[in-house]
Amino acid sequence: MAETILVQGTTKPERYAALMPQLAALTETETDWIANVSNVVAALRQTFGFFWVGLYCVKPVGEGQELVLGPFQGPIACTRIALGRGVCGAAWAQKKTIRVPDVEQFPGHIACSSESKSEIVIPGFNTDGQVVFVLDVDSDRLNDFDESDQRGLEEVVGLLEMLYRKTHG
Ligand code: SME
Repeated sequence: MAETILVQGTTKPERYAALMPQLAALTETETDWIANVSNVVAALRQTFGFFWVGLYCVKPVGEGQELVLGPFQGPIACTRIALGRGVCGAAWAQKKTIRVPDVEQFPGHIACSSESKSEIVIPGFNTDGQVVFVLDVDSDRLNDFDESDQRGLEEVVGLLEMLYRKTHG
């Protein structure tokens, strides 16, 4: 396992490009999904200084399903989110990335912290095409996520999907 993450580069695309092979190296010999996700979210926070970064995982509850808080870095957060609720539940329901430049303008946004100002949520899929987790990244600055973050974070989710599928299918 790589012991340190070292990301150089001045632009965000350069930084994501430098980070990806290190994330692959960090996770390639570990088979435990939670251990790998924990290190990936820590590496993202360490590299980009995000206010909050973490996963919500789709879990069974009663007859249905809910998003349940998974490994994260940042302030404590709400633990459960229903389908269609907030940015995370919307990304799950719509099966697509949602980028929110100003969380106060997003109907139904769930404010885990009043310091969170902008947000991006990317869904991850299993081999059957069902959403099995979402990666949620929050910033304490307005309009902090652009196309390059979306592309970079979607690549990170691609790696997490690959790791998920190794153990869960
Ligand atoms: N803001 C999210 C909830 C999760 S926290 O930001 C960590 C949402 O609206 O789904």
